[in-house]
Amino acid sequence: MTRHFLRDDDLTTAEQAEILDLAVAIKADRWGRKPLAGPQTVAVIFDKSSTRTRVSFAVGIADLGGSPLIISTANSQLGGKETPADTARVLERMVSAIVWRTYAQSGLEQMAAGTTVPVVNALSDDFHPCQLLADLLTIREHKGELAGLTVTFLGDGRSNMGQSYLLACAVAGMHVRVASPEEYSPDAAVVSDADAIAATTGGSATLYTDPFEAVAGADIVVTDTWVSMGKEDEKAQRVATFGAYQVTTELMATAASDAIFLHCLPADRGYEVAAEVIDGPQSVIWDEAENRLHAQKALLVWLLEKNPRTLAG
Ligand code: CP
Ligand code: NVA
Repeated sequence: MTRHFLRDDDLTTAEQAEILDLAVAIKADRWGRKPLAGPQTVAVIFDKSSTRTRVSFAVGIADLGGSPLIISTANSQLGGKETPADTARVLERMVSAIVWRTYAQSGLEQMAAGTTVPVVNALSDDFHPCQLLADLLTIREHKGELAGLTVTFLGDGRSNMGQSYLLACAVAGMHVRVASPEEYSPDAAVVSDADAIAATTGGSATLYTDPFEAVAGADIVVTDTWVSMGKEDEKAQRVATFGAYQVTTELMATAASDAIFLHCLPADRGYEVAAEVIDGPQSVIWDEAENRLHAQKALLVWLLEKNPRTLAG
């Protein structure tokens, strides 16, 4: 069975820790591993815009001795012209892994079902699991052991970041709180999955509507844009609805005194976060952005080891 990475709970707690340990080792020895030597090619497909994901995968694949093939859907047959399954059958004859940023999670599932090379979710409407590996690596660097820490995500709880926070932190044994207006709370099935995982890891997953209750005493405070890609038409209504969830210095002051602030970027200063917070001393956003590179390299190394057919070429 090919191992893919489509959502955060595709990894067990032990596997997530193994990848984060590997990311630490890779960060300390950037060019020491070449599992893609050949060079083998990795396809990195974008249906949506990207800066960090595009650059970190392209650089990471090159660091690992491979060749990144960046594909924009607009210039390919994907996106209504050819099914994800057929695309995957073609790509697997030539590439060692497929990384895809898209809209529907179901497209990723179809792609993964149709191929024997690993498929990686580089952001869908529902999850952003690569970002969470980078965020957890960043939290570990600043806070040490993940299990037992309290993390609060504020804003669109139904977004890819809100839902990935629930799952990834539950896997890590953290206490994850998501604060959002009721109509933007995470999907019930995702909450139920996070609850079930947390019950086995000693963590917890709790939903809030009051941002101050949610942030009280938190070790980590996180937010993301209120207007995710694909939701641009709803901007005015979203800005009106999410106003109370802005991470201000006043809100940040109710977290633990040594709390850190994360944001996956791109950020809208003055909307989901005040400039004084994101550009202030508690913010670790630049470490977080850099860690996309190290965490994703570790993920690729791990997936290539788990899927030896790929290594055989
Ligand atoms: N955080 C993140 O995924 O950024 P990009 O959209 O620039 O890739
Ligand atoms: N939630 C954001 C994340 C961007 C990296 C979006 O989907 O646009």
